[in-house]
Amino acid sequence: MLFDIYAPARILFGPGSTYRLGEEVAALGKRILLVTGRQSLKQSGNIERITQPLAVAGIETVAFDEVSPEPVTTTVDAGRRRAREESCAVVVGVGGGSVLDVAKAIAGLGHAEGETREYLHGREITTPGLPFVAVPTTAGSGSEVTQSVVLVDPETGKKSSLRNDRWLPRVAVVDPILTMSMPRELTAQTGMDALTHAVEAYTSRWANAYTRSLSREAVRLIVQNFYTAHKLPGRRDARESMLLGSMLAGMALNVARAGAVHALAHPIGTRYGLGHGLVCGILLPYVAEFNLAVVEGEYAELARHAGLVSAGVPEHEAAGRFVHYLRRLTNRLKLPEKLGPLGLIAEDIPNLVEAAMDSSSLAANSRKATRQDLAAILKRSL
Ligand SMILES: [Fe+2]
Repeated sequence: MLFDIYAPARILFGPGSTYRLGEEVAALGKRILLVTGRQSLKQSGNIERITQPLAVAGIETVAFDEVSPEPVTTTVDAGRRRAREESCAVVVGVGGGSVLDVAKAIAGLGHAEGETREYLHGREITTPGLPFVAVPTTAGSGSEVTQSVVLVDPETGKKSSLRNDRWLPRVAVVDPILTMSMPRELTAQTGMDALTHAVEAYTSRWANAYTRSLSREAVRLIVQNFYTAHKLPGRRDARESMLLGSMLAGMALNVARAGAVHALAHPIGTRYGLGHGLVCGILLPYVAEFNLAVVEGEYAELARHAGLVSAGVPEHEAAGRFVHYLRRLTNRLKLPEKLGPLGLIAEDIPNLVEAAMDSSSLAANSRKATRQDLAAILKRSL
């Protein structure tokens, strides 16, 4: 067996772990760029949970709150300029996947020359960046434990991912209390992103024993806690399990990569302005049906481990039940089940498929998917 993995250096997990944010950051530098979304941190009442431990530790904070839900490379450029002008030694990102991605890119390109979009298109990164500390406020992207970011090039409108071996956060502070104020719809959408990471990583061509142990447990945690976290937002145990599941899925994803859902979700999300988790959640059952023929054993194992079937159920039936569970899930979370009502039209399918064919996620998908296969998946989702 051969392994080639990148794993997070340090994770502080658990309710109240943000109390320790100040001392963790102070060990890396005294002046930080604090990257957040425009409003959510203030609206949720979480801002004091972040600023207080930083102030107690004597950290000087430069705020950068210009991140929008679909982050563009020019936002990263603005953050890099701010960090440089203000001589920030550390970047701390507090928010959902978009905020963490922007903060990670600001840190990673902290000493680099040129525009961010050049790096999105393949320019080599030759300089080490600034230390980056990630604090997620949603249970979805897993960005706190990955070395990749997804950004939109405003000149082409295209969404691409950018990865670098040195971009794993120095510290991830993962506190479920910060996710408790998420509204229901965001809980549903971000949770679907996490579940998709777990399922795609588990069945990826690049999966190994390390990633499978993480993604299998992530599927169990999410399956067993998703409804509760959605229906009873104040249930701390369910929130904690969802955040743990999302984080473990991110660790698996960072090594095993995703699959056809993610290959299609990026162009669809940008084309129709739809949330990433929402698109993933709608596509997941269609792609799972397509993959079923080659990953029946894996789906059966996930169904058993998550407690969807008992141990004695035959493989074929267990795998079918897993796909059935995914099919019912969007409906039970009150999310749309089709992309047609959200804007997808048949005439757009060839262009969307073409964009998906370039994606590195597609190369990791367990079953080889042709243009015709992807088009058929999208037609079924209309
Ligand atoms: Fe994702």
